[in-house]
Amino acid sequence: MAQSNIEETGIKTLYHPSKEVVKQANIKDYEKVYAESIADPEAFWAKEAKQLKWYKKWSKVLDDSEEPFYKWFVGGKINIIHNAIDRHLLTWRRNKLAIIWEGEPGDVRTMSYHALNREVSKFASVLKSMGVKKGEIVTIYMPQIPELVIAMLACAKIGAAHSVVYGGFSHEALATRIEDAQSRVLVTADGGYRRGKITDLKSIANEAINRSPTIEVCITVKRTGHEVHMENDRDFWYHDLMNLPIASPNCETEVMDSEDLLFILYTSGTTGKPKGLMHTHGGYTLYTSATHKYVFDIKDEDRWWCAADPGWITGHSYLVYGPLINGSTMVMYEGAPNHPYPNRWWQMVEKYGITIMYTSPTAIRGLMRFGDQWPKRHDLSTLRLLGSVGEPINPEAWRWYYEVIGGGKCPIMDTWWQTETGGHMITPLPVTALKPGSATKPFFGIEAIVVNENAEEVKPGEEGKLVIKGPWPGMARSIYGDPDRYVSTYWEDYKDKGWYKAGDSARIDEDGYIWVIGRIDDVIKVSGYRLGTAEVESALVSHPKVAEAAAIAIPHEVKGNSIQVFVILKANVTGSKELEEELREHVGSEIGPIARPDKVTFVESLPKTRSGKIMRRVLKAKAMGTEVGDLSTLEE
Ligand code: WT7
Repeated sequence: MAQSNIEETGIKTLYHPSKEVVKQANIKDYEKVYAESIADPEAFWAKEAKQLKWYKKWSKVLDDSEEPFYKWFVGGKINIIHNAIDRHLLTWRRNKLAIIWEGEPGDVRTMSYHALNREVSKFASVLKSMGVKKGEIVTIYMPQIPELVIAMLACAKIGAAHSVVYGGFSHEALATRIEDAQSRVLVTADGGYRRGKITDLKSIANEAINRSPTIEVCITVKRTGHEVHMENDRDFWYHDLMNLPIASPNCETEVMDSEDLLFILYTSGTTGKPKGLMHTHGGYTLYTSATHKYVFDIKDEDRWWCAADPGWITGHSYLVYGPLINGSTMVMYEGAPNHPYPNRWWQMVEKYGITIMYTSPTAIRGLMRFGDQWPKRHDLSTLRLLGSVGEPINPEAWRWYYEVIGGGKCPIMDTWWQTETGGHMITPLPVTALKPGSATKPFFGIEAIVVNENAEEVKPGEEGKLVIKGPWPGMARSIYGDPDRYVSTYWEDYKDKGWYKAGDSARIDEDGYIWVIGRIDDVIKVSGYRLGTAEVESALVSHPKVAEAAAIAIPHEVKGNSIQVFVILKANVTGSKELEEELREHVGSEIGPIARPDKVTFVESLPKTRSGKIMRRVLKAKAMGTEVGDLSTLEE
């Protein structure tokens, strides 16, 4: 994981933006605006917030009286939908395209802001008629189709919170999340298309519902049309409901408090139990729109494509909310990047005239493998900016993205952030001189530093822990149902200083450029997806033949990391190739295919500390054939 980006590229290699890029940039002088934003962050955010629509202005920008439970724009009344839809309807943007969607089989749907508003309002009315109340959490489990976006927006409109569970997760993972959120309503689809196959989402949802007594209503969108089991009084087809008089297109947007819950989104941490991070209407509306506008220099003429699934924070912030608040036209695609051929994405860019594209290093590396001939068959000249997110981008992939996709003229915005941060934290702006592999500088109002074990800033070039000084509007407010865990995970280490612990290691070079290296806790990034070693381990231990297990991350050329597991079998069970495969499958069905380990190794014992903690770094060193390091805490 700890690849040394600096040595690979040389910290002096700079890619300067072209004159054209600088000429049209929304922000021309990063240093100046940054200095102002740090000198008085509250004034900076207040100025930005004035560009949004508020029902009632706030009385206080930041309330830190109960830190780390910070409150932003206290007393303000707002709804993200009022900003993402309602206000556009009063302008020429009413007839601008909000969504251009393409299904994997090639079907296309487009929606103007006017049309999107109608769909959202109708579904909001449906939810209301199902008794959905302000503050209630609706779980959404869907493929990448427009109804996923509509369902999210409809919840927000009536003041309900959404909890989107990624469509690649298993029934087990879905049930745990429904249970934690105590959802009464589930919105799903019969299935979706992925690599030419149909995913059977409704069957998975049914299995989850069987284990989740809280679900009273399940609304299913018909996408694939294959046979699914529907239960009387519980199951409703989306299209049936949307054709009833209850689906009124007249639905008021609920007036919300700045700090009212907008959504929870589950992510992995150091324990097996995923945490539901809470984001609120006020701060999140401001933070996603400001970052999207400045980092991606968004203009009305742009065609914006965020290739992430809305099931993850990138999809929430930069597929759904940021772009809609900024009145952009977004492109959304349902399926796999290489289906039916590895030119599918480049075909999309050409066909829709996409101007800004935002994706992950894994996707770039995956497509790079197929060679230059696939993108070269397409006219990609409409592109003016590129983005990367989810994991460090290796300089080789960076350069391919820059040269072959961007034609050497599109700056790459390598954005570092997290589910917890709501939006970009460390990122270039289009005017920033770039270094391949570095997320460069902090965003406005953000101070990022790297510290050692004693919380002292390290020297330039030295590795340490990445820390954010102080609060920002887009930050998660807490962990749903577990405020203590919120404090202990992020704020306890630097309690007296009020700093946020990111959980990543990083270096800052002599030019002040930040190089994020990777996670230092028990979180693994596989293909940019976030998984906990504890989740994988508890999935393994739930198998009747497994006594104990340890999971580690091993560097992988395309995926960034792959999962390797070490397993102690129960007495009288012997390891075999078949059992390895069975365990891989088991983890896949417990969590989801993304969690399937690449390698299973059967062992007699696991290295542990005297207090009984598994020493994963020892396993990793062994697996990679590197130095084990200090073993003084090893049991024997
Ligand atoms: C972790 C957060 C942010 C949306 C998607 C991921 C890693 C994210 C970068 C980047 C290096 C990155 C970090 C972070 N990460 N972006 N540009 N360079 N590392 O959100 O699933 O909450 O994961 O992703 O390790 O802590 P997430």
